[in-house]
Amino acid sequence: MLTVIYPGSFDPITNGHMHVLERAAALFHRVIVAVAQNSSKAPAFSTEQRVKMLREAAAHLENVEVDAFEGLLVHYARDRGAAAVVKGLRALTDFEYEIQQAMLNRRLDGGIETIFLPSASEHQFLSSSIVKEIVLLGGEVEGLVPRAVAPELEKWRKAKREER
Ligand code: PNS
Repeated sequence: MLTVIYPGSFDPITNGHMHVLERAAALFHRVIVAVAQNSSKAPAFSTEQRVKMLREAAAHLENVEVDAFEGLLVHYARDRGAAAVVKGLRALTDFEYEIQQAMLNRRLDGGIETIFLPSASEHQFLSSSIVKEIVLLGGEVEGLVPRAVAPELEKWRKAKREER
């Protein structure tokens, strides 16, 4: 049984992430989506909110589990019995960072592979940051994020507006 980890900030999950997740779920026996808790970025959504959105968005995928992790990714992957880490790769924007992470993770634990799935052409421009920017500026995100995410983004926008 081949288990892989699909890690990320998922702040929030986008349809680009979903496409990678669905393809990983079709390739491997079990996919654990792992929400990073100790990201250096200050997230818009709490770990619990990100996990909840992911669980709703991935409810149709029977071999997908959603979890949160702290500390090194390779330690988490070992603990969960995973053979590899799956990452989505958008042309150009992600390459340098993702290759660096993959090499670092191999240096830390040579037994955990990194597998890249290229993002679909229609998702090359899509990121969690872009989605948040669109929402803050009053734009529409239909088709960019899973259905469960849009209302949460709207709540976040209202809270941000009240902060000001
Ligand atoms: O969605 P992101 O922000 O690109 O995800 C990055 C993530 C969470 C996968 C990466 O930062 C990570 O693996 N964090 C855990 C800590 C770790 O193992 N870092 C790499 C070696 S220092």
